[in-house]
Amino acid sequence: MRVAVLVSGGGTNLQALLDAKNAGGLRDAEFVCVVSNRRKAYALERAKQNGIEAVYLPTVRFENREDYHIALRDILLERKVDLIVLAGFLVVLGDPVIQAFQGRIINIHPSLIPSFCGDGAYGLKVHEMALERGVKVTGATVHFVDGGTDTGPIIFQKAVEILPDDTPEVLQKRVMEEAEWILLPKAVDMFTQGRIHVKDGKAVIE
Ligand code: GRF
Repeated sequence: MRVAVLVSGGGTNLQALLDAKNAGGLRDAEFVCVVSNRRKAYALERAKQNGIEAVYLPTVRFENREDYHIALRDILLERKVDLIVLAGFLVVLGDPVIQAFQGRIINIHPSLIPSFCGDGAYGLKVHEMALERGVKVTGATVHFVDGGTDTGPIIFQKAVEILPDDTPEVLQKRVMEEAEWILLPKAVDMFTQGRIHVKDGKAVIE
């Protein structure tokens, strides 16, 4: 399957996918492009280093949100993308993309949804919220993307322990290492093998 990865930042989750592929895994996934709304996203460099097309698509180039998402949809359709992976993409996907790729968009979120998610819960903020609330366990979630923010069917979750001296930065790193970089390649591998799909609003895994 042809896979596009959408990013806004450093791209360590993208790197986890590329590492898995370069190690001989993800045999049914072909990474065809990486799209970023930010020019300086290091993820674009990672794409180039791996011979993958890097597309910079800033929102300011468009008059309104609808036009941006139509352009994004067309870029993905032109490349015959089968699966869209959101790996730290900080633009909420618009209807044109959601409609064209129903059941074929997945996202990684750094908490156990439904905790610490939704509008405004992204990046370090998520870990600040977890520490503030005093939960003892957090984690990461891979889920399908629907019209809402972090509301789509859950595919995989993995718990990560919170330790007494954690700062948001320390916790963010542990959640990435122990959960995100494991769950995302696993989800992409299984989806591209045709083993994950949506049925009656839930993710079915075979
Ligand atoms: C990750 O924490 C991911 O869960 C969230 O955005 C962050 C992206 O980090 N959606 P990176 O760019 O993959 O390093």
